[in-house]
Amino acid sequence: MSNSLAFLDLKNLSEKHIHKLFDLALDFEKKDYLEVMKKAPAALLFFEPSTRTRASFEMACGRLGITSVVLSGKSGTSLEKGETFEDTVLNLAAMKPSILIVRAADTLPMQELAEKIKIPWINAGWGKRGHPTQTLLDALTIKKFRGQLSQERILFVGDVRHSRVVSSHTELANTMGYKMAFCGPEEFMYDKKSELSQSGPIFSDLSEGLKWATVVMALRVQLERHENQRDHSQYQKNWGLNRENLKNLSANSLIMHPGPVNHGVEIESAVFQDPRCRILDQVTQGVFLRQALVHTLLNQPGDLQ
Ligand code: CP
Repeated sequence: MSNSLAFLDLKNLSEKHIHKLFDLALDFEKKDYLEVMKKAPAALLFFEPSTRTRASFEMACGRLGITSVVLSGKSGTSLEKGETFEDTVLNLAAMKPSILIVRAADTLPMQELAEKIKIPWINAGWGKRGHPTQTLLDALTIKKFRGQLSQERILFVGDVRHSRVVSSHTELANTMGYKMAFCGPEEFMYDKKSELSQSGPIFSDLSEGLKWATVVMALRVQLERHENQRDHSQYQKNWGLNRENLKNLSANSLIMHPGPVNHGVEIESAVFQDPRCRILDQVTQGVFLRQALVHTLLNQPGDLQ
């Protein structure tokens, strides 16, 4: 039996019905642009791997009643056929999503593309340059569990050099008034060291840093961004957070990590049982923060300028 709902070719389509389709398409185009746009799906373009950020934005959009179109990595896309990242963005933008949510390497000209496209755009992690929604969700988590933000002292431990989370925190700390400090192996501080020393002290001793901090943020050792693959077996011993060195952190402080965690490298697995550990709370707060951001960009964009 034939399926009368299958649209497979143009052989039986009459001229009258083709014009009817065209008229309907032009009607859709004419409808109040902003109102239609708000209900259009979000386009999530994740050119670099992600679990938390991608799923969190999908959850956030879903809670707002916005569906998502997701491209994740090259597999199954025309990137595999040689299409560029820029063309991929331009083509998805041409489909008029309500919002573009993009994770990409430093090399994607995100700012130029966002200005050209004129569709709401969220940076979901841009090389080493920044990860603003991660930073905002960190700040929201601190505010929720510490009751305020401006008096906080956040110690960033580890791979500061490759951290887009640190880059975005240096922007937010100025506005929100919290203090930052850094700690880790010399080679992980290297090209950011002079810039960092303006943002806060660099502790050479992890215990001293932990005594200073009200929040400790362990950073992932980003092996994929290291030019020289070093032996990191000494990392846990000197810089990894564990039950012993965390005795230096005061009782009501917070232990955080943007994820993903390399268990046994930057943090001992048992630390997840520590009542000060808020790593999964960061993930929970991330959905609400992203929900708020998408809603604001679509409804009161002036609030974000
Ligand atoms: N924190 C973070 O960006 O995690 P994902 O890489 O899994 O999105």
